[in-house]
Amino acid sequence: MTQARILPYDRTAIAEAARLIAQGKPVAIPTETVYGLAADATRGDAVAAIYAAKGRPSFNPLIVHVPDLAAAEAIADLPDTARRLTQAFWPGPLTLVAPLRPGAPIAPLATAGLPTVALRAPAHPAMRDLLEASGQPLAAPSANASGTISPTRAEHVLRSLGSEIALIVDAGRTAIGLESTIVAVEDVGLRILRPGPISVEQLTEACALPLLGGGSGKIEAPGQLAQHYAPSKPVRLNALEAHDGEWLIGFGPVAGDVSLSRSGDLLEAAARLFDLLHQADSGMAMRIAVAPVPDEGLGVAINDRLRRAAA
Ligand code: TXA
Ligand code: MG
Repeated sequence: MTQARILPYDRTAIAEAARLIAQGKPVAIPTETVYGLAADATRGDAVAAIYAAKGRPSFNPLIVHVPDLAAAEAIADLPDTARRLTQAFWPGPLTLVAPLRPGAPIAPLATAGLPTVALRAPAHPAMRDLLEASGQPLAAPSANASGTISPTRAEHVLRSLGSEIALIVDAGRTAIGLESTIVAVEDVGLRILRPGPISVEQLTEACALPLLGGGSGKIEAPGQLAQHYAPSKPVRLNALEAHDGEWLIGFGPVAGDVSLSRSGDLLEAAARLFDLLHQADSGMAMRIAVAPVPDEGLGVAINDRLRRAAA
């Protein structure tokens, strides 16, 4: 395939994106978290094209994006707790894993054959416009080659998948910069499958159910490979200064060559994390070092991604 076209986000771009989706082709589109690679979740051929473009192991299920709770309920059996969480956090960076409704029109490849499905109603207007224009649930993993850093800008997508896809809709930098929190809602409690922008405290406050500990419950996250968000260079964590040959990503009092946030603001750090990892990866230095980030609130999700980058 030739190089992907980048179109600025407007009505023309969404119409062109919807045309490609209707042909079963994947399109890169921003969400409030990271850029996604979206395709019609009801078509096996379209979902297969996502896996092919990303070079993704096919046992790894995808998040299905929907406009709202009603669309989600057509696909999954949502317990009351899940409904309460959608009222608190949708549209937004929360993904719910729940049992697939019998006969739901989701391609088995999208759930990798699991009896459960991951659902999210995104907040970004570009993704919402595309959901409306295409009229279908859209499967969308992050728009990067499997195992590499998630994209927070159209240029990141171009570098990673430019030769694999036809279109990238460009709406600038994503606001949040970290993938959604993934929660499995079970009868007796919640299980965090991937920490993210919505914190554990926010989740337990919004619903009366307790948090279930680790270990294997009914639902597993097969996609949570230890090394997932990996730059091509070695990464050293909790660095207070740069060693020889290292490019230091600072935070708060650790200045570094660049900083996630000089003022120690975790929101700013989350939004800049993948961008700075991309910069570090394409820069001259042979190694990457990252300053300590406090393990509280959004810092839990940031540290989760950093551990994977260093694995
Ligand atoms: O913010 C986000 O969530 C972004 C944007 C594009 O929406 N999407 C994203 O998707 O990060 P992806 O495909 O990179 O991550 C999907 C994760 C995987 O770790 C996968 O294992 C988990 O969701 N997942 C999907 N379906 C699941 C299921 N039925 N049960 C358990 N985990 C599931
Ligand atoms: Mg990903």
